[in-house]
Amino acid sequence: MRIAMIGTGYVGLVSGACFSDFGHEVVCVDKDARKIELLHQNVMPIYEPGLDALVASNVKAGRLSFTTDLAEGVKDADAVFIAVGTPSRRGDGHADLSYVFAAAREIAENLTKPSVIVTKSTVPVGTGDEVERIIAEVAPESGAKVVSNPEFLREGAAIEDFKRPDRVVVGTEDEFARQVMREIYRPLSLNQSAPILFTGRRTSELIKYAANAFLAVKITFINEIADLCEQVGADVQEVSRGIGMDNRIGGKFLHAGPGYGGSCFPKDTLALMKTAADNDTPLRIVEATVQVNDARKRAMGRKVIKAMGGDVRGKTVGILGLTFKPNTDDMRDAPSLSIIAALQDAGATVKAYDPEGVEQASKMLTDVEFVANPYAAADGADALVIVTEWDAFRALDLTRIKNSLKSPILVDLRNIYPPAELERAGLQYTGVGKPSRD
Ligand code: UDX
Repeated sequence: MRIAMIGTGYVGLVSGACFSDFGHEVVCVDKDARKIELLHQNVMPIYEPGLDALVASNVKAGRLSFTTDLAEGVKDADAVFIAVGTPSRRGDGHADLSYVFAAAREIAENLTKPSVIVTKSTVPVGTGDEVERIIAEVAPESGAKVVSNPEFLREGAAIEDFKRPDRVVVGTEDEFARQVMREIYRPLSLNQSAPILFTGRRTSELIKYAANAFLAVKITFINEIADLCEQVGADVQEVSRGIGMDNRIGGKFLHAGPGYGGSCFPKDTLALMKTAADNDTPLRIVEATVQVNDARKRAMGRKVIKAMGGDVRGKTVGILGLTFKPNTDDMRDAPSLSIIAALQDAGATVKAYDPEGVEQASKMLTDVEFVANPYAAADGADALVIVTEWDAFRALDLTRIKNSLKSPILVDLRNIYPPAELERAGLQYTGVGKPSRD
């Protein structure tokens, strides 16, 4: 199959590289000439484990190429994937679809055969209808079909998620389009049984939002239970285990922490709420989730201040982990941003270490000293706070941390250390949803 991938952001680049690895001929297109130039030199615009090697091997095999020329990419393509950004529109939270529609128009102008046009970007229900309208207006004779095929990959595990998905969702009623999509994903069914779920296009569009909203609800639920655990002397990690062993609930996405962030959950929950409100069907559980999560990120700053005795004026706090989760350099809606703002507002000085996020973080944070390793973050600080659970923080020399700190306070917002281990090292411990150990 010949595939054009429009947009080389997270989803576009990972999907393009993985499709080429399946054996398809893939052309990735982006308007950003610098990005394409760097990709030609095998420099990835994002940090994603394994992506550079995957791109390099498929470029070498002649199956993967990059261009700024959309016409060249679309020419003779069996399928054209739209994987451009859909940011939250400023002011109203609706997904901004201008990039999607502009791409649809340009694709339509350059079609040379009845291609299948696939929306991979996360788009509100009904977007496929509009893309179809644009194609029909610009290229009425093209015979192109418009399909929805949402992506469920997680940053940091994107290649694995793409190649071993729980399911592939394809929204189209058209038999020819189904055949093309079946062919594109055929390698998945050869060595495993990843089911392709064929649905209507609007249903497929909603599945993506419903999945992300449900996961956001699940995380937020356990975060609230964590708060209750602290009040009643229960342990949220054991509660998670205890409820997660029930297959109807499932153990994943039940880690209590500082609140969810990232490029998807915050944006997609807002967009879903807008769609729901526009259709007079408010989703109250999702609305509550968004409110609770926003409040939680701010509350985590207060939690740190409380652990430090209530007054942080003139004190220094060391932060471990800035990105919204490990194995990414993505800082979008990261809890660290709210936590650091709360600490600075209360008069503290902040220094921070992150394995990959400093370049992005330095654009979003002011007056933060970025240090070269976890021990430097602890050095002379009045407390150390684990905000993101990078593997590099899981086996710290705790005695060295204790000796580096001015006061031996450690706040573990991801519960990566057993409290007893920290206490043995002489550290005063605060976790999330753990019984008080006084
Ligand atoms: C998410 C979805 O998982 C993915 O299917 C979708 O396509 C895009 O959005 P991603 O944003 O990359 O992926 O990260 P994810 O691993 O889902 O984590 C999202 C946020 O939730 C992070 O801030 C993470 O720290 C937090 N989280 C996750 C928890 O706090 N607890 C958990 O148990 C799981």
